[in-house]
Amino acid sequence: MAVLIALDAGTTGVRAMAVSPEGLPIGARYREFPQYFSRPGWVEHDAEEIWTAVSATLADLLATLDQPVAAIGITNQRETVVLWDRGTGQALHRAIVWQDRRGAPLCESLEAAGHLELVRTRTGLVLDPYFSATKLAWLFSEGGITPGPSVAFGTVDSWLLWRLTGGAVHATDPSNASRTLLFDIRRLEWDPELADVFGVPTSILPEVGPSSGRLGTTAADVVAGLPAGVPISGVAGDQQAALFGQACFAPGMTKNTYGTGSFVLMNVGDRCPDPVPGLLTTVAWSLEHPAEVAYALEGAIFVTGAAVQWLRDQLGLIGAAAEIGPLAASVDDTGGAYLVPALTGLGSPYWDPHARGALVGLTRGVGRAQLARAVVEAMAFQTRDVVDAMQAASGQALAELRVDGGASVMDALLGFQADLLGVPVVRAAVSETTALGAALLAGLAEGVWGSLAEISDRWAHDAIFTPAADHAAVDSAYQGWRRAVERAKEWVQP
Ligand SMILES: Nc1ncnc2c1ncn2[C@@H]1O[C@H](COP(=O)(O)OP(=O)(O)OP(=O)(O)O)[C@@H](O)[C@H]1O
Ligand SMILES: [Mg+2]
Repeated sequence: MAVLIALDAGTTGVRAMAVSPEGLPIGARYREFPQYFSRPGWVEHDAEEIWTAVSATLADLLATLDQPVAAIGITNQRETVVLWDRGTGQALHRAIVWQDRRGAPLCESLEAAGHLELVRTRTGLVLDPYFSATKLAWLFSEGGITPGPSVAFGTVDSWLLWRLTGGAVHATDPSNASRTLLFDIRRLEWDPELADVFGVPTSILPEVGPSSGRLGTTAADVVAGLPAGVPISGVAGDQQAALFGQACFAPGMTKNTYGTGSFVLMNVGDRCPDPVPGLLTTVAWSLEHPAEVAYALEGAIFVTGAAVQWLRDQLGLIGAAAEIGPLAASVDDTGGAYLVPALTGLGSPYWDPHARGALVGLTRGVGRAQLARAVVEAMAFQTRDVVDAMQAASGQALAELRVDGGASVMDALLGFQADLLGVPVVRAAVSETTALGAALLAGLAEGVWGSLAEISDRWAHDAIFTPAADHAAVDSAYQGWRRAVERAKEWVQP
């Protein structure tokens, strides 16, 4: 029996995971790679180090498998910019990561010049340094790169596809392209007018293929133990892959991934909706069989699990991430304290790059456990903020929220989330839904599964958290959260 392999190239590490024809993970390897913070607000990766981590985890995984590989699916940290030379195959600059804020001045000047409306309607995004194009513009204006015929741009998926195919394929998929600020999400093609606005030559852009469909095949001798000719048949950004891995195939179905940040995506079907205040509209995926495009509304929350790391690394309040759940659950409430984790500004629904973190409502009874609880509750409050915006925009009440990601192991978080939303919160049986989604996209393209129905039949939950009948207490806590957010907004250092 052949297996599928997912390559999940995340922000802090990469995972290679094998998936059986039953849709179950049967082995995985994970490796972290270095982060570079050379200036305040800057976050960079070395594209060569990402490739090394991917090829090493893939080689390690292949060494444990007896089965042949039916196909590979790629999923990746989105928006991050890699530039390389088509001739030498070498990266031309450090990759500029999605969290990097260096594009903020350009966003402000483009907004002042009146470009926001074009960006909103054509890309579904907002003018924020989060997305790729302002990072690209910086590389050409201040990064010392001259755009010429040998320069290639890609998000991390394109970079890996290029390397795996031995430089034969320079492509991406619509879910990744839709995060660049350069892609028309209705026509599903690069937009020359936007390329012009950002000063990006269209010659550097990858071809846009399907998210599920054959994009290329592996070259010989690129990774130890990987034969030539293995199809690469799935590509999607990590959050869209997680939506697929959660089998959210019908309009209205919604997932939240509690990772470094949290990303709530609602499938809104095959028609691209108009821009929604505070939220992003994005391509969820394009499939070849069945021929289909799906769109999603997205709430992008920048800091949730990263605040757990902050408690651990900056404050030393916990020794390991896994300690926060039990510590937060050791108290019934935060004693009136709120932590607004706007450590890199605020994303959805506020979009305030000038917001900074705030800790309010402190009294003498607030200690370590209350602070830990405030960090956990903030994950749920931020999710409520975006779910409220989604329900208002789609006119559709949420039936349930499917959840996954590193912080979703905390039962206390998910119970509180259910109370706060008033709907069941359902944790998936497979915790690695991002990697699973990439494998499913590849398997669907290669006929391992015949239909989306076959995939959703196999989807299973691990636990369901039902909302409490009495929501007066959580409602008043949420009102407090909204006031706390006001304190964090538009912070200006005197
Ligand atoms: N046991 C735990 N309890 C609470 N939080 C946890 C636990 N384990 C991990 N986390 C948090 O979850 C986050 C990691 O989750 P996950 O691996 O899903 O992240 P990610 O955003 O997908 O990362 P990447 O981009 O590298 O793939 C970390 O920020 C960490 O603080
Ligand atoms: Mg991830």
